[in-house]
Amino acid sequence: MRYFIGIDSSTTATKALLLAETGEVVSVASSTYDYDTPKPLWSEQQPELWWTGTVASIRQLLAETAVPPQSIHAIGLTGQMHGLVLLDAAGQVLRPALLWNDQRTGAECDEMRAVIGKQRLIDITGNDALTGFTAPKILWVKNNEPEIYGRIAHILLPKDYVRYKLTGELATDKAGAAGTQLFDVRQRNWSAEVVEKLGIDPAWLPKTFEGTAVTGHLTPAAAAATGLPAGIPVMAGGGDQAANAVGTGAVVDGVVALSLGTSGVVFASSDVPVVEPDGRLHAFCHAAPGKWHLMGVMLSAAGSLRWYRDALAPGVDFGDLLIPAANVPAGSEGLLFLPYLTGERTPHPDPLARGGFIGLTVRHGQPHLTRAVLEGVAFGLRDSLELMRGAGLASITQVRASGGGLRSPLWRQILADVLQAEIVTVNTTEGAAYGAAVLALVGAGVFNSVEAACAELVKVTGKTEPGEDTAVYNQLYPLYQGLYPALKPTFAGLSG
Ligand code: XUL
Repeated sequence: MRYFIGIDSSTTATKALLLAETGEVVSVASSTYDYDTPKPLWSEQQPELWWTGTVASIRQLLAETAVPPQSIHAIGLTGQMHGLVLLDAAGQVLRPALLWNDQRTGAECDEMRAVIGKQRLIDITGNDALTGFTAPKILWVKNNEPEIYGRIAHILLPKDYVRYKLTGELATDKAGAAGTQLFDVRQRNWSAEVVEKLGIDPAWLPKTFEGTAVTGHLTPAAAAATGLPAGIPVMAGGGDQAANAVGTGAVVDGVVALSLGTSGVVFASSDVPVVEPDGRLHAFCHAAPGKWHLMGVMLSAAGSLRWYRDALAPGVDFGDLLIPAANVPAGSEGLLFLPYLTGERTPHPDPLARGGFIGLTVRHGQPHLTRAVLEGVAFGLRDSLELMRGAGLASITQVRASGGGLRSPLWRQILADVLQAEIVTVNTTEGAAYGAAVLALVGAGVFNSVEAACAELVKVTGKTEPGEDTAVYNQLYPLYQGLYPALKPTFAGLSG
């Protein structure tokens, strides 16, 4: 039996997953850490944490199974996207990495639009400038830390720092590279135009590879650190969202991955490059070779329900909170909830956007409010699906859902009704680390393609079909859509 390891370096932990070639998850280990917020809007992490987390979780994985290290055939990598890792000519880290959730680069996003032109930027990279992406972070270092900027020799993404430590190679995957915004999303290569206009030295950029390609082999030093044999191939893998989509089988047209955690991510695979004309959806390369994807990110999805529970029903179990909401009619008797509790990313990239209950009357009790929260999050996710349908992905029929929020049958039914799509759950629940291991499995030739691997390994375990409330939600959706434009000036005013 051959075995494969998927490594996910996320913002809060590095997780290692051991996968048998049959698709069975043998063991999972993780090592947690924190990130720093040295100033308001800043979010940073020391790259060394990802490496020590990788070593610790691989060692724990090996200690907990009887699988001999010699049976491990390949490693696939995934991790938080967009983070900026800067190395000097000796390969030493120059400063803590600026992370995907760092918001300091508003001025640099404006600078990118001014230098390249907003429409041209969307045409080439698939995206409007966004504070979370990597390119504005590079400009921030140039504008604010010129001494460090002058010593840059290499730019990497978080999981690619782990790759560098494992293999000594400077490389990344196409999905991750697209998230830097220095990438020509259609050509699947660095954009000479964007790189030049932003004054970035092309020699700083790593080589890019499709998700299943071998990027290097485990060095003797990395072998000694991890306990794995030297020479194991390390595949490119992909950014966490693309790897998660591989893990849930969202690798064919018409199948969407929905992850309902604190944030909500709607991810649609596409066989051709698609870009939302106004750049309101993220358009990146997929980790599945030769494919692309569109993605919408809602910042407070299950996070809205958590806030609501903590603020208005502290200590109540989520299951108990949701039971009475099932008896409230669809539409919560004229009550809408706006889920922008931490600003929003898709479809309104507005850090000042706020949440609210709209339409309260004395008739409304707590069950109405609870149901309105579930419905408001579903409407917000529908915004992403509608943009995807409008951008040309007309055939979205199935949503593969994962994340804590999906444990509620009521929320699953509301989502099926609001999104007008069948909501399915799948047998693979380990997310991005599983997807990274699958990419390694395909790269090693166990399957001919990522699609073939997913068809064999990812099985549907449950289905919720749209029901009779779909018509009610269709009527309410335009009212929900009207709220943000109407309230935008109010939100700006409330933020001072
Ligand atoms: C994707 C994104 C997050 C990070 C953190 O665009 O910003 O999913 O990758 O996990």
